[in-house]
Amino acid sequence: MSATNDTNRTTTNGHRINSPIPPPIPKSSYKIASIPGDGIGPEVIAAAVEILQALTKKLSTFELEFTEFDWGTERFLKTGRYTPEDYLEVLREFDAILFGSVGSPSVPDHISLWGLRLAICQPLQQYANVRPTRILPGTKSPLANCQPGDLDWVIVRENSEGEYAGQGGRSHVGCDHEVATELSIFTRTGVRRIAHFAFNVAQNRPRKMLTYVTKSNAQRNGMVMWDEVVQEVAKDYPDVSVDHMLVDAMTVRMVLNPRSLDTILATNLHADILSDLAAALAGSIGIAPTANLDPTRKNPSMFEPIHGSAFDITGLGLANPVATFWTASEMLHWLGESEAAINLMDAVEKTCAAGIVTKDLGGKAGTKQVTEAVLGEILKL
Ligand code: NAI
Ligand code: MG
Repeated sequence: MSATNDTNRTTTNGHRINSPIPPPIPKSSYKIASIPGDGIGPEVIAAAVEILQALTKKLSTFELEFTEFDWGTERFLKTGRYTPEDYLEVLREFDAILFGSVGSPSVPDHISLWGLRLAICQPLQQYANVRPTRILPGTKSPLANCQPGDLDWVIVRENSEGEYAGQGGRSHVGCDHEVATELSIFTRTGVRRIAHFAFNVAQNRPRKMLTYVTKSNAQRNGMVMWDEVVQEVAKDYPDVSVDHMLVDAMTVRMVLNPRSLDTILATNLHADILSDLAAALAGSIGIAPTANLDPTRKNPSMFEPIHGSAFDITGLGLANPVATFWTASEMLHWLGESEAAINLMDAVEKTCAAGIVTKDLGGKAGTKQVTEAVLGEILKL
């Protein structure tokens, strides 16, 4: 396969790669910060690093230089911080970040999430969270009659504000009259930039369809502004057909009419929930990738599987590494290495098609067998 930077390519097995932003100038070597984190994070990141190293060796067109950071709950319990104080300067030296998961039974989830993942995404202005979802060959959707090709979506999640802006507080903690507020912040700038991003994604996909999701019947301020801004931005993309869904009705449409959807734009909270549903409808949370992008490319972007630490299977060798492999493919594409990105996804899809899948997809293989099978496909390139 020849090297390409095309923004819209289809591989032999139908995997499309979409880039809303022109790729950067290729380099001979990229610096990758790897943050395995907690739970199954280290298991899936180790597998992905092994695969990426084999891929770059086989292709011999560029190198990846990994630096691993021990930023996770163990560090937090020892030092009181998930990261060193200068972590943002440290990360800014890298071309991309490959992240596993954060979260442990020994620390409340809001402390771990804000201590590491959100502490990276928000200051690095990774405002576009992109979540492609498809049914991979050889795997099955829990939906009857839903075949590969019937569900092929990209969810674009606003990743910097909204319901996860972190505004609010608690007064009279523990008293009967305790008050807690959780304030959603929506800015015109924030909605406009994510809407442009999502329309670009939609425009680069063959069906050129965008569905945006809000809850502007019940929430009459921020959500109504969302609707207005998205409609304004839509005027710049006359070739993209647009429709609007309320988030509750959207869950029904995703289940009953998956073919009617293509690119989906939603707020931070709504897209967080809808993308877990999307992953389950595509077969498993164990295959779902995500990219936290700074579309301006001023800061490194961060790539992670959607799933969390999965305490119930940590250390058992059962974690599905496909979500992290797909994530790694998205990272390569973002770096401008489309040929490698497509080759990696091809290897993953051939492995799935051969029935070498983990338990969450109904198979018998463990992390190691899936990784070895993908390595085998890479060696055949
Ligand atoms: P989870 O995604 O860790 O697990 C949910 C279910 O999916 C579990 O049954 C798990 O075994 C299964 N699962 C997840 N990934 C899998 C994989 N690769 N292969 C096979 N099965 C897989 O979500 P949960 O249980 O809500 O959260 C556990 C911890 O992870 C919490 O501390 C949470 O805060 C954290 N978390 C962190 C995220 C992040 O770092 N971005 C995202 C989601 C959760
Ligand atoms: Mg989530």
